[in-house]
Amino acid sequence: MIAKISLIAIGASLVVAAGILYAAPFTAAQSAGAPGAPPASASTPSLNYEFFKTRVEPIFLKKRPGHARCYVCHSGSGDGGAPPYLEKLSPGSTSWDEEQSRRIFRRVSRLVVPGDPSQSRLVMHPLAPEAGGDYSNRVHGGGRQFESQDDPDWKTIDQWVRGEKEGAPSPQ
Ligand code: HEC
Repeated sequence: MIAKISLIAIGASLVVAAGILYAAPFTAAQSAGAPGAPPASASTPSLNYEFFKTRVEPIFLKKRPGHARCYVCHSGSGDGGAPPYLEKLSPGSTSWDEEQSRRIFRRVSRLVVPGDPSQSRLVMHPLAPEAGGDYSNRVHGGGRQFESQDDPDWKTIDQWVRGEKEGAPSPQ
């Protein structure tokens, strides 16, 4: 009897889990990463991996005048207090390989709410407060990486969070 009940319970939770995965691939990560975020609906855009790999990842590696690269702080052990959502490049490489990129995509996806850049730490935390950046909890340890929402790199990250796909026009 007990065994039967728990089998039913497991079955039910699998159905629920499958439903969530089918409807919105990043629902779980999203609710873990952003408490209080509105529940995802079926219209929630999904995060595009190709766009991330070709357009967003290079921003993490790029030297910005007056700033250290995201990579310098965010691919370490986390000792300096910066969450290590990136990874060390293999010796001699100037970009991440496919496996690394997939892992980075998964980690960085937890820092955003798909379709809602204003609720996404990746978008709002490195942005200067005068430009609308979120310094309400704490100042970004890496400084004001983006002075304005007109910064092309900031815009690219924003587009990715909105669900933009590589090679396709914006869904907006
Ligand atoms: C000089 C080191 C440094 C650099 C460079 C840096 N960061 Fe950070 N970052 C930190 C530290 C330290 C924290 C943790 C404290 C805080 O919340 O700001 C942090 C936190 C964050 C967070 C919040 C993560 C979370 O889990 O809440 C995001 C998102 C972020 N950084 C993005 C970036 C991006 C994007 C870049 C490059 C454009 C960048 N950072 C460059 C040091 C850095």
